[in-house]
Amino acid sequence: MATLEIHDLHVSVEAENGPREILKGVDLTIKQGETHAVMGPNGSGKSTLAYSLAGHPKYTVTGGTVTLDGEDVLEMSVDERARAGVFLAMQYPVEVPGVSVSNFLRTSATAVRGEAPKLRTWVKEVKSAMEQLQMDPAFAERNVNEGFSGGEKKRHEILQLELLKPKIAILDETDSGLDVDALRIVSEGVNRVRGTGEVGTLLITHYTRILRYIKPDFVHVFANGRIAESGGAELADVLENEGYDKYVKGGASA
Ligand SMILES: Nc1ncnc2c1ncn2[C@@H]1O[C@H](COP(=O)(O)OP(=O)(O)O)[C@@H](O)[C@H]1O
Ligand SMILES: [Mg+2]
Repeated sequence: MATLEIHDLHVSVEAENGPREILKGVDLTIKQGETHAVMGPNGSGKSTLAYSLAGHPKYTVTGGTVTLDGEDVLEMSVDERARAGVFLAMQYPVEVPGVSVSNFLRTSATAVRGEAPKLRTWVKEVKSAMEQLQMDPAFAERNVNEGFSGGEKKRHEILQLELLKPKIAILDETDSGLDVDALRIVSEGVNRVRGTGEVGTLLITHYTRILRYIKPDFVHVFANGRIAESGGAELADVLENEGYDKYVKGGASA
């Protein structure tokens, strides 16, 4: 079973007035098959954690370790991380002009699997994954994220998740901007992948809404750049009722 181990992770970003520490000692272990919800107020550093794990160049690791089955993830390039089985669905996915969804998926699958998927089985794989997510086949010919609605962006990410079969999936605010139907379809996709028992999921969310559809094994409260408390699914209910106030010092929740 693959294990992602984050230990005492410190991360800074380059702000106008010099580097600013955002992550202040994050400890978290995710095993294949487990679903961890990371919940916290806006600005607490949740997306920074996601980007740092994926290797975004804007975020500088100043301390701590991240390993996948003992291998140093922080030493890996973005591509190497993807090949090692780390997948990131971003809160604000970027447009890739001139690249169709279909080409993008095949290129990604080739990179992650180390060889081009056989065309006949690949076409079937994509078709069936798109059907399950109730996506129009014409969607495959559109340019990645160009003019996608919020719901289309999220479906596209879950489509990638289903096809790339990572060991560790980091989903940042997958519920943002989704209406109830889209939320259900996207959640069902996550649950299908989860049901294989072969992916460890880090579900980052501000609201408890998505946790009605995806039941986490563990809930972590994220505040001021670190995990302030961990518990089981019941912790999400406490947060739903009480909010994050007690975790935020100085009331800096904005
Ligand atoms: N690239 C960046 N440049 C400057 N500040 C950043 C950058 N990324 C994040 N921050 C700051 O780091 C803090 C945490 O942001 P973020 O990780 O997006 O929080 P969350 O996802 O929990 O809302 C915020 O104060 C944000 O303004
Ligand atoms: Mg965020």
